[in-house]
Amino acid sequence: MRINKYLAQCNISSRRKVEEFITSGQVSINDVIVTNLSTQVLPTDIVKFNGVVIKPSNVKLYFLLNKPIGYITTVSDEQGRHTVLDLIERTPERIFPVGRLDCNTEGMLILTNDGDFANKLIHPSKEIDKVYEVVVTKQPSIEQFSALEKGVVIDDFLTSPSKISNKVKDPSGTYKFNITIHEGKNRQVRKMMEAVGLKVKALKRVKIGALPLGNLPTGKYRKLTKQELNLLLKNGGK
Ligand code: URA
Repeated sequence: MRINKYLAQCNISSRRKVEEFITSGQVSINDVIVTNLSTQVLPTDIVKFNGVVIKPSNVKLYFLLNKPIGYITTVSDEQGRHTVLDLIERTPERIFPVGRLDCNTEGMLILTNDGDFANKLIHPSKEIDKVYEVVVTKQPSIEQFSALEKGVVIDDFLTSPSKISNKVKDPSGTYKFNITIHEGKNRQVRKMMEAVGLKVKALKRVKIGALPLGNLPTGKYRKLTKQELNLLLKNGGK
């Protein structure tokens, strides 16, 4: 394992800070200072940070949070805004959100300290489905739905075909439906709606892979079971 990954798993600090510790000469392997981030650590090596032996934590944590509006999906924020980590009880392990949800989007967010698991969940090649419940200000036309299903151009990128389901008209005039996509471009659903001329009133992620959000209240979180972790990496009907 590379030294930067090894240190990141020791819960000392963020991945970025850990790299600074290495390049500034605070880390040694078998009492020899290493500054190259790609130095390999062997299972028998003794790694020290400022002279103290450190070992990776093998405790893996996986949480499901129902993110409320108004929280950003970063680990810390220089502008002092609320982050999703403010909603999770502190653990010695450094957990982080898997992927993003906009500040104004609510719903399913996974947090973990398992980098490999996180990569599997967000890597484009895995094509893990994500279902979003969208509320728009007016009833979409057949053409608008059809454009969304075929794929639309956002930021010079043609989105893959999506799936529209659970269409519900609200007596107040708004219209709710689910859209299933597997890509994770920045603000993708909002941009897709904008591309076909629809105005988003509310957006919520309600399913990842084959795991639904269920009845977890907004702002609450819980641990995921092993079975649920498998469901996350599995696509619903595929
Ligand atoms: N698409 C969006 O527009 N926002 C999100 O937070 C997630 C997907």
